[in-house]
Amino acid sequence: MDNLNLKNKHIILGITGGIAAYKSAVLARLFVKAGAEVQVIMTPNAREFIAPVTMSALTGKPVVTQFFSANSGEWHSHVDLGLWADAMVIAPATACTLAKMATGVADNMLVTSYLSAKCPVFVAPAMDLDMMAHPSTARNLATLAADGVHIIEPATGELASHLTGRGRMEEPARIAAVLDEFFAAQSADSASLAGKKVLISAGPTVERIDPVRYISNFSTGKMGYAIAAEAARRGAEVVLVSGPCSLPTPAGVRRVDVESAREMLAAVEQDFASADIAIMAAAVADYAPAEYVDHKIKRERDDIDSIALVKNPDIARTVGQMKRPGQLLVGFALETDHGPENAVNKLRSKKLDMIVLNSLSDPGAGFGTDTNKVSIFFADTSRPAVRFELKDKTAVAADILDTIATL
Ligand code: CTP
Repeated sequence: MDNLNLKNKHIILGITGGIAAYKSAVLARLFVKAGAEVQVIMTPNAREFIAPVTMSALTGKPVVTQFFSANSGEWHSHVDLGLWADAMVIAPATACTLAKMATGVADNMLVTSYLSAKCPVFVAPAMDLDMMAHPSTARNLATLAADGVHIIEPATGELASHLTGRGRMEEPARIAAVLDEFFAAQSADSASLAGKKVLISAGPTVERIDPVRYISNFSTGKMGYAIAAEAARRGAEVVLVSGPCSLPTPAGVRRVDVESAREMLAAVEQDFASADIAIMAAAVADYAPAEYVDHKIKRERDDIDSIALVKNPDIARTVGQMKRPGQLLVGFALETDHGPENAVNKLRSKKLDMIVLNSLSDPGAGFGTDTNKVSIFFADTSRPAVRFELKDKTAVAADILDTIATL
């Protein structure tokens, strides 16, 4: 196996304290042979199982275990390592490290680097069969999977305890192949939206009452920003029309800041005609004060017992009417009840091609969270709805764009 897609990749190889650590040497060797640069981070216990000098000789880099180097006083930055890496692989991953990763117990260099890593993370669990079968391990693995960690399932076979069961770390050649396939798919998608223009609305809108007060909603923009980042990564020209949000602009994205629904409509209309795909992820306030009062409304005023409201324009519906053949329009529906029914009604009435439903009643879905759980419905009634598991919003963004690609 040549593992051609590993060439020039930066890989953090995390090693934890388990018998299978001896196989990490073979894994490091396979990565290096395929042309990857490998930085090993060991937990303190891992050093009992394999000598750091073996790993540094194989990788040509000093092994990192401590926050500080005792000899030189040098500070190892987990943040820099996390940014340097294209992928992080923890093999073997013990029950203890999996638990620390799942709960954020950053008491060593490896877990700290994991928490700072911006790259995809893979774990290859290795432990005795009873530990593997314990509900606590299953729970931690499910949490990590929901956080977007790729789990390289352990094999069934003879274990260090001489018992036979599930818990053997996957063979190094297979782990290297998983990484190779992952990078191959990544480079295929990095061009999948090349030449396409994607217009995205995100965040809340803010409707001013007076200079200090407004009507808005709890949207933080995370879902829309994740889609913008993913579309840019796939090579699209991305315009992100954003209501007030405190998120950084994703790399390669042109961001247009707006405040009210009317401003958002104007900005979306500007770019809609030239867009191939429009994804309306904003939580647009449905109503705005009928009148803006240009000075602070005082408490003493006794003539105010209500604020007159007017309906805001429906941005998705407006562009749905402008849609030309070949353009795709995708909307969101955030519902508290009767989700599927309401989503399908919105899909039809706004002339959307596809709608993404997230339900506020699902734990971990909705406003402000880093995760979401969505179902997707199609205008093409011959296509059944697709339901996804609870995932990190980045993974949800990838699912949404993969689904759009099938339209
Ligand atoms: N939308 C929009 N402009 C609005 C309201 C909604 O573009 N004024 C878009 C949203 O970005 C989303 C979809 O329409 O893609 C559905 O939004 P949602 O707030 O769930 O639905 P509403 O149409 O506002 O209906 P309701 O508030 O009654 O549920």
